[in-house]
Formats: sequence, structure tokens, C-alpha cells
Amino acid sequence: MSLDAPVRRLDVAELPSCVELAVSRDWLPEEHKWRILFEVGDVFGVDAPDGAGLAGMVVLTRFGTEVAGIGMMVVAERYERRGLGARLMTHALQEAKTASVWLTATDYGRPLYARLGFRTISHSTQFYGRFERRAVKTSRPLSTSDMSGILRLDKEVFGAPRTELLNSLPSYADQFRVIDGPDGPAGFAAAWPNSGTTVVGPVVAADQDMALTLIAELGGDAPGTVRLDLDHSRPDVLEWAAEHGMERGSTTEVMVWGDPLPGDRTRLFNPVMIALG
Ligand SMILES: CC(C)(COP(=O)(O)OP(=O)(O)OC[C@H]1O[C@@H](n2cnc3c(N)ncnc32)[C@H](O)[C@@H]1OP(=O)(O)O)[C@@H](O)C(=O)NCCC(=O)NCCS
Repeated sequence: MSLDAPVRRLDVAELPSCVELAVSRDWLPEEHKWRILFEVGDVFGVDAPDGAGLAGMVVLTRFGTEVAGIGMMVVAERYERRGLGARLMTHALQEAKTASVWLTATDYGRPLYARLGFRTISHSTQFYGRFERRAVKTSRPLSTSDMSGILRLDKEVFGAPRTELLNSLPSYADQFRVIDGPDGPAGFAAAWPNSGTTVVGPVVAADQDMALTLIAELGGDAPGTVRLDLDHSRPDVLEWAAEHGMERGSTTEVMVWGDPLPGDRTRLFNPVMIALG
């Protein structure tokens, strides 16, 4: 059967088809994550020629004209290795129109992305574990008056405006906490539920100690297992996670297309999620 149906933008009503395709490749159902992605990103898909759901999908999230994140790229096993992955990624790149594009690649995707011009800049490993609750905390809950300071700090660190994402995050997150500096927020982190775990991300902090404090404080208030996506550029943080009894999950390659990433990435510790940046 021919796979030449156009790449089309999907509506949130099609979220169940995305979950179904993800699950068919042994990914978790992650409905809550898909709701965030549909709200802040563009979900693209190609209909399966046999009429059974989607043949492939990809999510593009733009942050201004500077950076886009691409994630959740999946092709149904029965339609693999026929060029659909390349067509979806090319479409997402054309729609992005940003100076840089960021993604993390599985072993399946890496050769394809490299051929399309992505270069590997690092690796990211999932860690899973539990943290002890800390009664006394350095961080405090977000208040509505913090948002303009948070957006200013985040733009400086991320190098592009994550305005829509950060404004909508409090409604998806269980926790959103801030550490103050002399001129407003110096660091912040959120924790949001994802298929039985709590993801701590984003984490933006003035230094590594502040980042680890935020992770431990939010992790300690999570109801169960915490997931962290840790970048290998900071081996000390990976060691710290292991010392806290966290177990390693899978590793992906962090890849960039176009210009080097902007901002002050030394203060960006965790992404919101690896499908977004
Ligand atoms: C990664 C993934 C999306 C690729 O989708 P795909 O449709 O198979 O991608 P393509 O067909 O464009 O390219 C895949 C390979 O098939 C080859 N190919 C493309 N058309 C082909 C054809 N007609 N005949 C033979 N091979 C072909 C490509 O050259 C490529 O080879 P490479 O991996 O050695 O570079 C798919 O494998 C997948 O969903 N994997 C599971 C989920 C996952 O890991 N997603 C990636 C997250 S980063």
C-alpha cells in the first residue's frame, strides 16, 4: 500500500491515535504529556493507508525564531524503512523556521537525523528513583507575581522565549517552586505527572548546588517514583543521582541542527521533557 498521504497537522481530538501509535512501539501511554504537547506544540501525522490509525507522527514546538524542539517521532512498525521518518522530520524542519532545532535521538532515529544535518552535542540519560521528603525547604511555591521574572530569567538561560509553555505549565504541574536571588527569581523548577512517575523539569538554577536543591526538594514532595533526564555534560549530577539510589534508564543522543543553541545553557539543568527542550 502506498504511503503518500500528506503530512497533516493533528487536532487534540486525535490524541488517542498518537497514544496508540506510541504504545505500538512499546512507549508508555503518557496521555498527560500529550495534552501538554498538543497545547504548546504542533503535532503532525500521516494516516495509515490501511485505515488503522496513524502510520507516523512527530511533534514540533517552536520557541520564538531561535529554537525549536522536535520529539515523539514514531513510525508504525509495519511502515518502517520506507522513507516516512525522513518525510516527517523534513516536514517538521521546514515548519520550524528557527535558527536551531534540538532533539534527543534513540538508536533508531540517530542515523536518519544525522543524514538530515543534525549533529550530536551530548547524551541524555533517564534516572528513576525516590527522594526523601524535606520538611524545611530553600525553595518556595510559585506565586502569580513571579511569572514575569521567571520568563525573563528563562529567556536569558534558554536563549528563546518559552512563554506559552511556562505560562501553561502551572496547570499541568503538581509543583512549581522558585529560589530567589537579589533581583528576583534566580532559579525555578517544576514537577509534573507522567504515566505513574513524576518528571522533575524544567530546572533552571544559578549553579549546580541550587539545581540539586530544587531537584531534591521537588523530588521529595513527589508521590512516588521521580524521573530525571540528565545531560552527560554534567557527570557530577549523574553521580549524585546514582548516589541517591536512582536507577539508570535509557540513553538518547542530544542533537542540534543549524546554529549552536543560544542562551546561557550552564544554568539550564533539566528540560521540561526530552520531547520539548
Ligand atoms: C526512527 C523511526 C521513526 C524511523 O522511521 P522510518 O520511517 O523507518 O524512517 P525512514 O524510512 O525514513 O529511514 C529509516 C531507514 O530506512 C532507510 N530507508 C528509507 N527508505 C527505504 C527504502 N525504500 N528501502 C530500504 N530502506 C529505506 C533509510 O535510509 C534509513 O536507514 P538508516 O536507519 O540506516 O539511516 C522508526 O524507526 C521508529 O518509529 N522507531 C521507534 C520509535 C523511535 O525510536 N523513534 C525515534 C525517536 S528519536
